Amino acid sequence: MATWLNLAALEEQLKTRWLGRRLLYYTSLGSTQDVARQEAEQGAPQGTVVLAEEQTAGRGRLGRPWVSPAGSNLYLTLILRPSMRQLRSLGIIAPLAIALALEEVTDLSPRIKWPNDVLVSQRKVAGVLIDSGLAGEEARYALVGLGINVNLDVQAHPDIAATATSLRAEVGHSVAREAVLAACLNRFEALYRGPAQAAFQQWRARLETLGRAVRVTFAGGTGAEEGIAEDVATDGSLILRRANGSRLRVVAGEVTLR
Ligand code: BTN
Repeated sequence: MATWLNLAALEEQLKTRWLGRRLLYYTSLGSTQDVARQEAEQGAPQGTVVLAEEQTAGRGRLGRPWVSPAGSNLYLTLILRPSMRQLRSLGIIAPLAIALALEEVTDLSPRIKWPNDVLVSQRKVAGVLIDSGLAGEEARYALVGLGINVNLDVQAHPDIAATATSLRAEVGHSVAREAVLAACLNRFEALYRGPAQAAFQQWRARLETLGRAVRVTFAGGTGAEEGIAEDVATDGSLILRRANGSRLRVVAGEVTLR
């Protein structure tokens, strides 16, 4: 039996000025990204959050499905109206906000797998999906999708059991989703209006990927590269040192730690 979110408890812990102050709450929908896109197209203000207890067609990066059973996790999309500079920073801010929130609410020390997977014990506990609506050189809106495995029974989902974890699995007891959600939104809003350089340093400090031997695959099956993940640039791109000594700047791709 699924337990629904306590929206009054969420409200009590929310310290934001604008993020999450308009909350569109669904017990079930296909994907929060799709509802958020319709809302954004119809003029929803910055800070609107679409939240669902269950997604029947939750999706991750690279078109993968996102396991989204009812009442145990967090599935939400933030609607933003960013400048192009802010749009480019979202891939850093979003996983960092989750990592800081998990540090605040639990005694875990999450890491980030480039570009924006949040890991605990080398397993994925949260993911970020960023879509945008552009008009020429301008961003009309950005949709920041956050999926956080809070109380998921990972073993009940054999397809992800080897690579995923949940907060409950890591700390050994259920975790209040309202506390995690409020902390994420509080952290996100503060990072969004704060200095980009400070966010970059905090993101970089949590990167599991740096110094590791990695394989990077590119969207659309356009090949792969191997090397050492040497560093990240301030725009978030990954600097890969190949075996022949040459360096490659990777803007988007999927990293496998080797
Ligand atoms: C990934 O790591 O591949 C990204 C996962 C993003 C999942 C979230 S859950 C809320 C939002 N709605 C979706 O359908 N996906 C994102």
